[in-house]
Amino acid sequence: MTATITNFNIDQVRKPAYAIDPVFIERWSPRAFSDKEVPDEVLYSLFEAARWAPSAANRQPWRFILARKREDRERFHSFINEKNRLWCEKAPVIVLVLSKKVKDDGSENAFHAFDAGAAWAQLALQAVKNGLVTHPMGGFDKTKARQVLNIPEEFDIHAVVAIGYQANPEILPEAFQEREKPSGRNPLDNLVFEGQFSQPVENI
Ligand SMILES: Cc1cc2nc3c(=O)[nH]c(=O)nc-3n(C[C@H](O)[C@H](O)[C@H](O)COP(=O)(O)O)c2cc1C
Repeated sequence: MTATITNFNIDQVRKPAYAIDPVFIERWSPRAFSDKEVPDEVLYSLFEAARWAPSAANRQPWRFILARKREDRERFHSFINEKNRLWCEKAPVIVLVLSKKVKDDGSENAFHAFDAGAAWAQLALQAVKNGLVTHPMGGFDKTKARQVLNIPEEFDIHAVVAIGYQANPEILPEAFQEREKPSGRNPLDNLVFEGQFSQPVENI
């Protein structure tokens, strides 16, 4: 099952240059969320997908703090920027993605952020498979999030992710309605180099 997309044909907006699984272009970040609750089985399957991500030395540094109850979501809203709150308050699930910065011996794990990125990506792709949409956000106050959610210093705070079922864009404030469509991507030539770094200066 894939997410319901309302106001465009995804194949016209996103054209992969090579054959890929459709899930990669079907994942995008809408802002129109229905307030329909996400059943446990459907939601926890996203974390299960994240759990199987690769990580340096299999340290699995990713952590997820989940808000579903009204009072938990309100606590999350208290550290999210107003511009994001305008649309994300409807989302029935909000998740904060963290990673443990240190190894068990207390030394730095240089790969914790790389690994947490992989885990979040797996979560987002499984969401598409489960008929859900996700929207990551960096627009929030990390210091406040740490304080409000009691997050120890040895964990880095990365992003908030709104999760839920997609709604009709008409529910959004007008300013967001015309932006409610999937974006494109840079061509492969700009990001894949063979043999050595060779990006033309104008593209750096
Ligand atoms: C780390 C990160 C932070 C982001 N912060 C915000 C944000 O604060 N507000 C927002 O509306 N979108 C935010 N986004 C969503 C991006 O704008 C979006 O992923 C990007 O434009 C690509 O579009 P797509 O996800 O629809 O493919 C963020 C995405 C990431 C990965």
